[in-house]
Amino acid sequence: MIGTGYVGLVSGTCFADLGNKVYCVDKDKTKINKLNNSISPIYEPGLDDLINNNLKSKRLSFTDNVEKAVRESQIIFICVGTPTKQNSNLVDLSQVYKVAKLISRYIKSYKIIINKSTVPVTTGDEIERIIGKKVKKNLFDIVSNPEFLREGEAIRDFKFPDRIVIGADNKKIFRKMRLLYEPLIKKGAKFFCTSWKGAELVKYASNAFLATKITFINEIANLCESTGINVEDISVGMGSDARIGSRFLRAGPAYGGSCFPKDTKGLVSIADKFKINMSIVKAVIKSNHNRKILLTKRISKIMNNKIKNKKITVLGVTFKANTDDMRESSSLVFIPYLLKKGGIVRYYDPSGFKKEFKKNKNLKFENTLSKACVGADLIIINTEWDEFKSIDFKKIVKKNNFKIYDMRNLYNPGELKKKNIKYYSVGR
Ligand SMILES: NC(=O)c1ccc[n+]([C@@H]2O[C@H](COP(=O)([O-])OP(=O)(O)OC[C@H]3O[C@@H](n4cnc5c(N)ncnc54)[C@H](O)[C@@H]3O)[C@@H](O)[C@H]2O)c1
Repeated sequence: MIGTGYVGLVSGTCFADLGNKVYCVDKDKTKINKLNNSISPIYEPGLDDLINNNLKSKRLSFTDNVEKAVRESQIIFICVGTPTKQNSNLVDLSQVYKVAKLISRYIKSYKIIINKSTVPVTTGDEIERIIGKKVKKNLFDIVSNPEFLREGEAIRDFKFPDRIVIGADNKKIFRKMRLLYEPLIKKGAKFFCTSWKGAELVKYASNAFLATKITFINEIANLCESTGINVEDISVGMGSDARIGSRFLRAGPAYGGSCFPKDTKGLVSIADKFKINMSIVKAVIKSNHNRKILLTKRISKIMNNKIKNKKITVLGVTFKANTDDMRESSSLVFIPYLLKKGGIVRYYDPSGFKKEFKKNKNLKFENTLSKACVGADLIIINTEWDEFKSIDFKKIVKKNNFKIYDMRNLYNPGELKKKNIKYYSVGR
């Protein structure tokens, strides 16, 4: 695995757990040193134990030595980042191409090179061209094998995927890939073969569709708020239709994370290149951006526009629960806003202190839920960690007249009302 981030580390560790001998390579030496000492650089439930077990059994090793890893492997996965270029929708593929160039230097015997990074249609052709400059065609095959794991559920998603998508240009490769994934196919994963380009687009289309679902229910939630309807009823009513499905149909903050924001933009930019107007996805991107502003305004409204010197507590600052990933989290928008308006903000996140907020004055990380909540004027629930689902607010806030803004609809409004707590949620 070249690139030991969320995808490379989880996939590499899980492949080792299936009995393969795996090298996880990263250019970040600090990360490699940590991992060699059994310390996971990311928060992912169950990952620490899995790393430990596979390190001990010597099926898994971590290194920054690309040459050694390439020479000793039959299969090479590219798992590096594909962020959005600054001030555009274009995908920055420099990490992928750099790795392709790097591995081409060390290929002396036949290798299967699999791209797992999320990339625009036609990237596979470019990877083949780059490697083909240095390596004879009979010494390598290119495969596209997009990853669908969700942070927070990554190990389960790897071990029990709905489908495994393989893009390649010959049957021999499909057979070899089937062999690699056999243990997961036996447990019921659908094994789906297509072209490189097909596999690349399946990933983008899936993420854009899921982002559309979230955005759609968020807009319905706005209508519910104005008409006195409970959006949860709409989610159940709609989601019970098998054609629609209930997942990704819960109203809440704007979607964030390392995938949906960049992949929706990536789809728009590759479609633009082929002069295709992705009007729906463009609207989704805009609506999601607006939602960050809308929920920030809602906080102001809840506080009657009086934020100066108010003690505000944020529970969960990552883009969702069970991850430490801060990429594109709504909290990166509303916390700076509250600070600018003079709020005194504390946050608690089970995944710990966040370096993204290191420089913010008047913002403090508390290492327990109760320390973060005591004396608060407003508590904002931004993510749905289990720890946040049954809080005795009166007991931990230790004062009257505080407010709660529950952006994840974790609580029953009626029950909090009975306790005389001023409670606000999303779309109800
Ligand atoms: N995070 C997710 O949930 C997820 C899910 C599915 C797909 N993906 C896709 O997978 C890809 C990787 O995502 P991620 O979240 O794991 O990224 P990440 O940023 O967490 O990790 C990428 C790693 O690659 C390393 N790297 C970069 N260049 C390198 C090089 N030349 N040699 C060795 N290592 C190098 C970086 O140091 C980093 O550790 C992206 O395309 C992403 O869209 C991510």
